Amino acid sequence: MQVRIAHDAPAAVRAGALVVPVFSDGELTGAAKAVDAALGGAIADVLASGEIKGKPVELALVHAKDQPFRRVLVVGLGESGKLEAKALARYAGAAVRYLGRRNIGEIAIALPPQAAGHEAAFASCVAEGAIAGSFDTTAYQAKPEKKTAVDTVVILSDGFDAKAVETGMNRGVIVGESVNFARRLALTPANDMTPTILADEASRAARTFGLDVEIFDEPRIREEQMGSFLSVAQGSAQPPKFIVLRYNGDPGSKELLALVGKGITFDTGGISLKPPDRMEEMKYDMSGGAGMIAAMSAIARLRPKLNVVGLIPATENMPGGKATKPGDIVKAMNGTTIEVINTDAEGRLILADALCYANKLGATKIVDAATLTGACVIALGHAASAVVTNDDAFVKQFLAAADATGERYWHMPLYDDYTSAMKSDIADLKNTGGRPAGTLTAGAFLKTFVGETPWIHLDIAGTAYLDGESAWQAKGPTGTPVRALVAFVESLAKS
Ligand code: BES
Ligand code: MN
Ligand code: ZN
Repeated sequence: MQVRIAHDAPAAVRAGALVVPVFSDGELTGAAKAVDAALGGAIADVLASGEIKGKPVELALVHAKDQPFRRVLVVGLGESGKLEAKALARYAGAAVRYLGRRNIGEIAIALPPQAAGHEAAFASCVAEGAIAGSFDTTAYQAKPEKKTAVDTVVILSDGFDAKAVETGMNRGVIVGESVNFARRLALTPANDMTPTILADEASRAARTFGLDVEIFDEPRIREEQMGSFLSVAQGSAQPPKFIVLRYNGDPGSKELLALVGKGITFDTGGISLKPPDRMEEMKYDMSGGAGMIAAMSAIARLRPKLNVVGLIPATENMPGGKATKPGDIVKAMNGTTIEVINTDAEGRLILADALCYANKLGATKIVDAATLTGACVIALGHAASAVVTNDDAFVKQFLAAADATGERYWHMPLYDDYTSAMKSDIADLKNTGGRPAGTLTAGAFLKTFVGETPWIHLDIAGTAYLDGESAWQAKGPTGTPVRALVAFVESLAKS
């Protein structure tokens, strides 16, 4: 999909449809007011009729015979005084999905008056949301039903700072495309998204966008003594890969941010086999890794002044004849021994070695993302990702950056109690801490591998993919945490 800027007045724009915002309070403003005048009060009529009230992502289509724009899609943005830029992603996404299903190819999107003075932020969200709304889930279908016809989106800059609109739009295109890249990797079934294919995708992105890439195969992983990672991989016929992506945006600095993502391309549970109900969703268990590959791609394109390394341990978790058995004791890269109580708690086993490797590279900050625990879905549902940390100031900066993106994160505690729950009788650690606070005992396990390095762990088990579609988003993978990571990296580069 192409996103560009146009300077036409809204009522004069040539398009298959013109998208204008309305609010649940007050009079028509901005583009809605101008277009309403051109149509003899047709938009005011829609609101007066009560067909929509202007609440967020309420939609009404008005045909505009004889106008250069052929239709107007009126989209609610809620209370005018409470509008934030991030609402514009849903506004644009809902418009693209609604019009795209009605075979409309080119649409023009108006900004609300509140964008004045914040043009870059608003335009970024419009571009990102429009591209995310066009995400294609039909690659495997002979006769796709849900394909979007929208191939061109024009953002109208009339009345705004056009330069800032363009800057924001360019950023939003990169974020939206990166979000869809992560979603495509996650949506692709595990037979077509093996560790080898995931590594190939990472290499291709690195080549395209200018990142350094190294793929460790099994002998190299063994050389690094990543025994915890290998203990998960040994049950699978697919060879594991350890993906390393590097972006050197500040060569003079010793600061290095590591982005570590769980890359389980399929999680059967291993010998502690999962029940069959919804096991197919475990193709999404590489969402953290996909998010980090996509975030690294976005970083390469946005070029912030910062050094970043992406680390993605990638393997299947299978119950093959060589698989790790409950009770086995394995050794992580830093020498820590781990008693594997439950082979389904595999994410923390592969992340343990990746976190050790981040420290070996000299990371000064670490963020990891993983679909780590079912307990996270019990605690927060699909409404937010859980965050734990060893550094409260670091998490504060992350939460501030993430807030502007529409992705939601909730900071949870890491009391020593949770670390104690991970003590083994005969090894240094065990890999499960019982049913209570499963997200936090998993976090406490990871914490023991990061040492003193400021670190944030994101449990995205409830947010990486969704069971249903919404007005602005297809069913399936969401692209979480790409938006938040990009915003966070930008904020780190500025501080
Ligand atoms: N990948 C799962 C976690 C998961 C569950 C993600 C549901 C998304 C939806 C993870 O590897 C896992 O199986 N965790 C276990 C840990 C337990 C054995 C301590 C879990 O949550 O049941
Ligand atoms: Mn598991
Ligand atoms: Zn898993």
